[in-house]
Amino acid sequence: MIKYLFFVMAIAIVAVAITAFTPAQINDVKASVKRGEKVYTKVCLPCHMADGGGVPNMNPPLIQTSYVLGDKTKLIGIVLHGMNERVPIDGDYYSNNMAPHNDLTDQQIADVLTYVRNSFGNKASAVTPTEVKQARLKKQ
Ligand code: HEC
Repeated sequence: MIKYLFFVMAIAIVAVAITAFTPAQINDVKASVKRGEKVYTKVCLPCHMADGGGVPNMNPPLIQTSYVLGDKTKLIGIVLHGMNERVPIDGDYYSNNMAPHNDLTDQQIADVLTYVRNSFGNKASAVTPTEVKQARLKKQ
């Protein structure tokens, strides 16, 4: 009987936890993706294109690259500090330079990267303004 009660209680707690937290989090990410799309269209699209495909030999694609799906601090750093390293990006080189975009707010950078990480066939966790704030404090 006690065991049964524990079982019912455990189910109740899980049910409450799911209804209380999950939808809000999903809505947060959805809202962030929506805001991020606007930032992307204004700031990133001219180089990385509407479909994230980039421009061959000039601007790299944002589709399943190790940067987009990889370490978030490094990814935030690219938006903050730009990129002109001439390193191969998943095997290819690109001739254009990416300027720093540190004039964007923490929220805008979080939103645009959450959008990029969940568009163009990408699926990765959201980026939060707190993570951007922490990345700003790091020296590149
Ligand atoms: C002026 C054109 C330009 C703009 C605007 C631009 N980028 Fe870039 N981006 C580049 C180029 C060129 C590189 C590669 C530079 C290199 O090879 O050193 C790059 C590299 C990257 C990379 C790492 C490589 C990869 O393909 O995964 C990411 C991620 C990225 N950009 C995201 C963004 C985001 C997000 C924005 C908007 C906030 C943005 N870029 C705006 C040109 C641009």
